[in-house]
Amino acid sequence: MKRKIALFLAASIAALGLLQFTNPVRTNPPAARDLLTVAPPSPAIAAVLRAACYDCHSHETQWPWYSRVAPSSWLVVADVREGREHLNFSDWPSAPERAAKKFDRISEVLDYREMPPKKYTLLHPEAQISERQRQELLDWCEAEAQKARTPASTP
Ligand code: HEC
Repeated sequence: MKRKIALFLAASIAALGLLQFTNPVRTNPPAARDLLTVAPPSPAIAAVLRAACYDCHSHETQWPWYSRVAPSSWLVVADVREGREHLNFSDWPSAPERAAKKFDRISEVLDYREMPPKKYTLLHPEAQISERQRQELLDWCEAEAQKARTPASTP
């Protein structure tokens, strides 16, 4: 019996070891057009975006240790890939109407308290946003969306 348990444990460890060859690549390509650079908000808002959103919605992901170990690496890398596909602060649209739509979508997820995801803030308590920060983000998004939709007046 003891021998069987030892064999089972050894096989499990070997399997976990083999799984490590399946770790997906973690990329942080250079930012193409970063929102915080091209249209910087107040430092307070920039700090909230960096703390609560940038890990999944930018090219400045701070990869945690469990993103290097299968099987959790699959989940983290897939989340970041999907997050960047939907909204990427490092590749912010230059067309005003497209930017306005992004701001609308951010307002929406903040309204419904969908972002940052709960599973994320459980592991990253520093990414939790207070009611006040949420309201500040919302006000900023609404103002920016409106600004983007107002044709620039020529002086
Ligand atoms: C743990 C990773 C993660 C974090 C952190 C995160 N998001 Fe997301 N976000 C996602 C993923 C994955 C999706 C796409 C799937 C979905 O909608 O749930 C998404 C979708 C979105 C969308 C929808 C985009 C669209 O139009 O389809 C918006 C807007 C958004 N996030 C904003 C934010 C904001 C703002 C923050 C910070 C307050 C944030 N997210 C934090 C992972 C994340």
